[in-house]
Amino acid sequence: MEFGRPSATVSRFPPVPRDPGFAVYVHWPFCAAKCPYCDFNSHVRHQPVDQERYASAFAREIAEMAKRSAGERVTSVFLGGGTPSLMKPETVGAVLDSIAKAWDIAPDAEITLEANPSSVEASRFRGYRAAGVNRVSLGVQALNDADLRALGRLHDVDQAREAIGLARAIFPRLSFDLIYARSGQTVEAWEAELTEAIDLAADHLSLYQLTIEEGTPFYALHKAGKLKVPDGELSADLYEATQRLTEAHGMPAYEISNHAVPGAESRHNLTYWRYGLYAGVGPGAHGRLMGPGGRHAVATERHPETWLKMVEDWDSGIVTDDALTPAEEADELLLMGLRLAEGIDLKRWRRLAGRDIDTEVEADLRAHGMVERLGPDRIRATPAGMLVLDAVVADLA
Ligand SMILES: C[S@@+](CC[C@H](N)C(=O)[O-])C[C@H]1O[C@@H](n2cnc3c(N)ncnc32)[C@H](O)[C@@H]1O
Ligand code: SF4
Repeated sequence: MEFGRPSATVSRFPPVPRDPGFAVYVHWPFCAAKCPYCDFNSHVRHQPVDQERYASAFAREIAEMAKRSAGERVTSVFLGGGTPSLMKPETVGAVLDSIAKAWDIAPDAEITLEANPSSVEASRFRGYRAAGVNRVSLGVQALNDADLRALGRLHDVDQAREAIGLARAIFPRLSFDLIYARSGQTVEAWEAELTEAIDLAADHLSLYQLTIEEGTPFYALHKAGKLKVPDGELSADLYEATQRLTEAHGMPAYEISNHAVPGAESRHNLTYWRYGLYAGVGPGAHGRLMGPGGRHAVATERHPETWLKMVEDWDSGIVTDDALTPAEEADELLLMGLRLAEGIDLKRWRRLAGRDIDTEVEADLRAHGMVERLGPDRIRATPAGMLVLDAVVADLA
């Protein structure tokens, strides 16, 4: 196989339009096993899940969310989880049909399904493609068996490679996720693994530093001193190696953890980071929709069976529906947009915040190499700033 790709390669993807678009997120909250590092809204059930019942509930909540966003044209759908590849292709087809009934769908809409690479799930890929999925995001996580076991994953590297090959053959677009800054990982080991990943990757890679999330088994182990993770300096070196290698092979970061061949950026995630509008459907999904008083933060009940009952009784599981103040919107715009290599439009921020960025704070951050201007009305975090993004955002906000 050809090694990587030089940065001068002409992309086969047209550029993603600058418009943030309108996105629909659908949450499938079930997994075959709970990974010890994960704090997502994912649950293991020992009885089979009634998928037809969930598909009907999704249809009802989709119709409700569409009433809240009439006239929008859907530019992306993301079936995330949990493990959406535990859904039968018919369930995925039913959800996509409900979305197509509720909204107008752009002809070039990006339809992504998050999949785990075990062989059972990979065998459903053709069915997902037939149902309308045109992009798969595979949870590979590591390309060595010892680390996959340590992460509590149910697949091995051979299954991951096989699932990648199958997905490349079936779907027009493919991304996969890796978690780095794992226990005992050296920069050299990560460089070798990432080189293989770039070689296997089709058009997009999500590369996440391991986060020790409160309430997870990893958190307890870490607190007890039984799980060591790279310290700040090693983490920074791993991050730097990640940027260097992906850039050298034509897949630069367009967001703090996301890398793509130009034009293959995730349109769905760009809607979030460019602070567009989106509907969230299913247990524990979040959305940003227009409502009385402006943009609303909308969220649904997290617990799957409680959500199901709510939707069956009232057509939706919405538990939060709060109008955001312009200042809150300005904060969110900053928080999301500074994750992007393209940064944020300061004119838009100024309109919401009702003021300019504090010039002294900005000058100080610039002097420390944390932010930079891309023209008079655009600001972004530098790679050094990305490493401490929360602090940069807090200073500017
Ligand atoms: C919600 S998960 C769903 C994907 C799919 N269920 C899977 O695990 O393959 C999305 C991604 O978040 C990342 N992730 C989850 N927990 C993480 C953590 N504690 N630290 C870093 N990345 C994490 C993983 O790479 C995972 O693929
Ligand atoms: S499979 Fe994915 S969503 Fe499920 S527990 Fe593991 S990391 Fe979390």
